[in-house]
Amino acid sequence: MQDTVIPVPEDWARRAYVDDAAYQQMYRRSVDDPEGFWAEHGKRIDWIRPYSRVKNTSYDPHDVSIKWFEDGTLNVAANCIDRHLEERGDQVAIIWEGDDPADDAKITYRELHEKVCRFANVLKKLGAKKGDRITIYMPMIPEAAYAMLACARIGAIHSVVFGGFSPDSLAGRIQGCDSNIVITADEGLRGGRKVPLKANTDEALKKCPTVKNVVVVRRTGGDIGWEEGRDVWLHDEMQAVSADCPPEEMNAEDPLFILYTSGSTGQPKGVLHTSGGYLVYASMTHHYVFDYHDGDVYWCTADVGWVTGHSYIVYGPLANGATTLMFEGVPNYPTAARFWEVCDKHKVNIFYTAPTAIRALMGAGDDLVKKTDRSSLRLLGSVGEPINPEAWMWYYNVVGDGRCPIVDTWWQTETGGILITPLPGATGLKPGSATRPFFGIQPALMDGEGNELTGAASGNLVITDSWPGQMRTVYGDHERFVQTYFSTYKGMYFTGDGCRRDEDGYYWITGRVDDVINVSGHRMGTAEVESSLVAHPKVSEAAVVGYPHDIKGQGIYAYVTLMSGETPSEDLRKELVAWVRKDIGPIASPDLIQWAPGLPKTRSGKIMRRILRKIAEDEFSNLGDTSTLADPAVVDDLIDNRQNRA
Ligand code: PRX
Repeated sequence: MQDTVIPVPEDWARRAYVDDAAYQQMYRRSVDDPEGFWAEHGKRIDWIRPYSRVKNTSYDPHDVSIKWFEDGTLNVAANCIDRHLEERGDQVAIIWEGDDPADDAKITYRELHEKVCRFANVLKKLGAKKGDRITIYMPMIPEAAYAMLACARIGAIHSVVFGGFSPDSLAGRIQGCDSNIVITADEGLRGGRKVPLKANTDEALKKCPTVKNVVVVRRTGGDIGWEEGRDVWLHDEMQAVSADCPPEEMNAEDPLFILYTSGSTGQPKGVLHTSGGYLVYASMTHHYVFDYHDGDVYWCTADVGWVTGHSYIVYGPLANGATTLMFEGVPNYPTAARFWEVCDKHKVNIFYTAPTAIRALMGAGDDLVKKTDRSSLRLLGSVGEPINPEAWMWYYNVVGDGRCPIVDTWWQTETGGILITPLPGATGLKPGSATRPFFGIQPALMDGEGNELTGAASGNLVITDSWPGQMRTVYGDHERFVQTYFSTYKGMYFTGDGCRRDEDGYYWITGRVDDVINVSGHRMGTAEVESSLVAHPKVSEAAVVGYPHDIKGQGIYAYVTLMSGETPSEDLRKELVAWVRKDIGPIASPDLIQWAPGLPKTRSGKIMRRILRKIAEDEFSNLGDTSTLADPAVVDDLIDNRQNRA
């Protein structure tokens, strides 16, 4: 399978923005002359004051500093809305598809302009100004996009928190960036079930005294608590303000947003993205990777709570004047045919989703797909985790009827946009490979000793030079930024991913090499789940690792040592799962808990996770060097009591 190459269809090579020759030529230029290349492509967005400096970046661990277009000024919201008004004011900007198939809406660029201006004025009236941090905790409704763009319009920095996170996780993120305004909805709606967003916010705010106002969008009309003086209804406020709100002039390097993401240690970190470079990169990748042409209907199924929603539902597509579809629901509601029915209903041309969804829908059978038409589809995309060749082939043959190229896009919250990907008119596809670098991206593979590997090889993936969409710092903790990304390999950005490069120079991402696990395409730090577990009064110690999971890609496997006197039981197992779920959110729920009388440790007391990973993966015969174990009997016990042995 790995040798299969699916060539670029002839019509694609003809009509796409770039064919293979153009890719080669543009890529060469982008790495030989980054200044010239980006000076030219930076112009794809509108600047208030044009930049004269293009690239000013250093990966030197003593002085990591990343600046692009640094003397230019712009407004991101004006780029996503105002500049399209003359030519495409009446074109649909956002197609909204509700959780209930009977619920939908279309918002034109002109309507988007009015909504965002009013929303921005509401925020201003509440005292928000340039540089303030505003937390957004919303369901997938157009108001989520309005809120982000309203922040961008007035120069406030948004921090979107995924609606599936718990009150505690929300509180941590509000405190982490000192937000004094939170934007939420009464309730969300997913798969027919209500998500108590306002109630969660109220709970979180008990720990966040700095929050002065909560702006509430009415989505379901459900019963909610209300704090007079603090809480305001968006619909009331919108009517009371003007529809005119001139965009704030922002420097290219002024922050646009913070997005919290899990790392291998400690609590989630606030990834900071700035305005100019981010928008250039998000819009350019959206344009070339999805080969977006005027009139196309484009659908990315992500949630705006993740970076994919930021770059490829909101900023990239809207900067390009696209029609972007926003879906409130879930893939299997009312049935597992929903995605394909939505494609037919809205005549979707470009469809971008995650392998976990593809695997789950594959399990639901071909009939649900085949009963839909899908003839509008032209291009398919995948993101978030490695896609196994079997799921790739199903996506290609069954969903795409063998007609649609698949762009398997590798990137990260930190990278702002897609770094390794096929271009549909240029790149022959290999199922399971993210293929080749995008313009300006210089990947390299390193071994554990810091040597660069050449030719066909496997190693740790680094990027050797900056690109405009790169994160600039960890909010409030530049040292952590330097430590996490620039200290492993000197002068290089370390991605945390393992990767293989084949003889054709194609890249195959193999997954995380650090203590981050990828559950259904969502990043989870093992340390976060561990600290939640040990906070339970009956737990003495916990170690968490990933293990292969058919649908989720990786599942969460927790080894738990109880306090002396406590006895393992099915009830306690359920209690611990519920505990983590409540503490962090459903995405952090352990899939398997193994009771561990002891954990394998070195004589200096360090937990040997490598061994725990192997046991979780059922690789007992290949435990590696166990000679440094303080008590080798611990390992035998763990193997004997392996949780899900047949
Ligand atoms: O391990 C890689 C995996 O997801 C990680 C980044 O997660 P996050 O910051 O949440 O962003 C996800 C959406 C961009 C990466 O370090 N990953 C992402 N895309 C792919 C992938 N692994 C393999 N193939 C991909 N296409």
